[in-house]
Amino acid sequence: MKITIIGTGYVGLVTGACLAELGNDVFCLDVDQRKIDILNNGGIPIHEPGLEEIVARNRAAGRIQFSTDIEASVKHGDVQFIAVGTPPDEDGSADLQYVVAAAKNIGKYMTNFKVVVDKSTVPVGTADRVSAAISAELGARSVTAEFSVVSNPEFLKEGAAVEDFMRPDRIVIGCDQTPQGEKARSQMKKLYAPFNRNHERTYWMDVRSAEFTKYAANAMLATRISFMNELANLADHVGADIEAVRHGIGSDPRIGHSFLYAGCGYGGSCFPKDVQALERTAQDYGLNLLILQAVEAVNARQKQVLGDKMQQRFGENLSGRHFAIWGLAFKPNTDDMRAASSRVLLGELLRAGATVAVYDPVSMQEAKRVLELDFYDAPELLASIRYAANPMDALVDADALAIVTEWKAFRSPDFDEVKARLKQPVVFDGRNLFEPTVMTELGIEYHGIGRSVLTNK
Ligand SMILES: NC(=O)c1ccc[n+]([C@@H]2O[C@H](COP(=O)([O-])OP(=O)(O)OC[C@H]3O[C@@H](n4cnc5c(N)ncnc54)[C@H](O)[C@@H]3O)[C@@H](O)[C@H]2O)c1
Repeated sequence: MKITIIGTGYVGLVTGACLAELGNDVFCLDVDQRKIDILNNGGIPIHEPGLEEIVARNRAAGRIQFSTDIEASVKHGDVQFIAVGTPPDEDGSADLQYVVAAAKNIGKYMTNFKVVVDKSTVPVGTADRVSAAISAELGARSVTAEFSVVSNPEFLKEGAAVEDFMRPDRIVIGCDQTPQGEKARSQMKKLYAPFNRNHERTYWMDVRSAEFTKYAANAMLATRISFMNELANLADHVGADIEAVRHGIGSDPRIGHSFLYAGCGYGGSCFPKDVQALERTAQDYGLNLLILQAVEAVNARQKQVLGDKMQQRFGENLSGRHFAIWGLAFKPNTDDMRAASSRVLLGELLRAGATVAVYDPVSMQEAKRVLELDFYDAPELLASIRYAANPMDALVDADALAIVTEWKAFRSPDFDEVKARLKQPVVFDGRNLFEPTVMTELGIEYHGIGRSVLTNK
């Protein structure tokens, strides 16, 4: 099938590459010339395991092309995926300007039937806005061409995006019941048929329910994390081990083991903004989502837990202190720094007078770019950050090590070397990678999240 992907970011590039891998003829559009140039020169603008090979293979086979040519992109695809960003607006609602701009472009150039797929995460009712924007452009040109707007939210996880897209748990598609909607449904069915071979994975529903499903999923996941984080902080006080509690409750099939890890807060491009946007949608209808307000507040506080623990240990004034930080990206296997907990920790430590040496296996370059923006008004703080060459290099002369991202490479370090390099053997583990009792046996002072009962033994 001929597919156009509008927006070649994390979601757009993965969607485009995977659909090309299945034999479709894919046109990826972006307004960012830099991204398109990188892709056309054989590079890849983001870090995502397995993606580079798929893009290279399909580019060589002529099944995927990258361009900034809007008119050509509209002409190309019978199915037009909108996969542009939906960042939070000042009031927390989803900023739909890029989605509407993409819809207008479709209306400006389309001449035949198009299936327009909202793949971006968009608030309930956005499909109607997309329809209206396309119709207005068609009207302005006095052109009659049919189209149908479909909601097909994306559930991929950064760091495992290719795997998630190729082997989805579920595919959610919302179509309307008009004749155009039926036509769109049959095209979507054909497009996704290869994913349903083993068993049917598609959940067909109305458009609004599909839009809502994406927010409900992210809100639920964020809730589980904040719930466990809040309990972890209590566990630290009452002398319980949150990891034992996690196993104890996860074994109940009604609860399950996934997404119950306590840590130093969730980040990324999705949970923070989607929780906020859902709250904002509710407010538009005069409702307050009290649980989600708490989820957000708990997460904001949780991002400060590591810094607070470090200040409790070393004092509020950290002048003259130097710390090593392992992990900058918001989670492993990605270079994405959006809403990463490391940014909050760095802010706390640097503003309290400390200097830091940081290391992340893939996000060093992206971190530099983002931290320059974070500290644009405080260049002296920026100068207090050293970008280390490897994890062990970061430890040299540090008063303590803080772990913010659970990269596999950090899971079993040579602890003798860790101890030898640190000024004193103190570890703040924001992702509970290590066993407190083992650390104590190794002679390392250990501070996890919700694990002080074992640390103090
Ligand atoms: N990143 C994730 O893990 C993830 C997962 C599921 C859903 N989503 C949702 O998918 C959407 C995209 O997220 P992302 O992380 O891929 O964003 P991104 O910022 O990585 O990519 C968006 C791209 O769209 C381009 N763009 C903006 N306006 C455009 C236009 N008018 N025409 C063409 N290109 C345009 C931008 O230049 C950018 O390259 C968001 O709504 C997000 O919430 C993201």
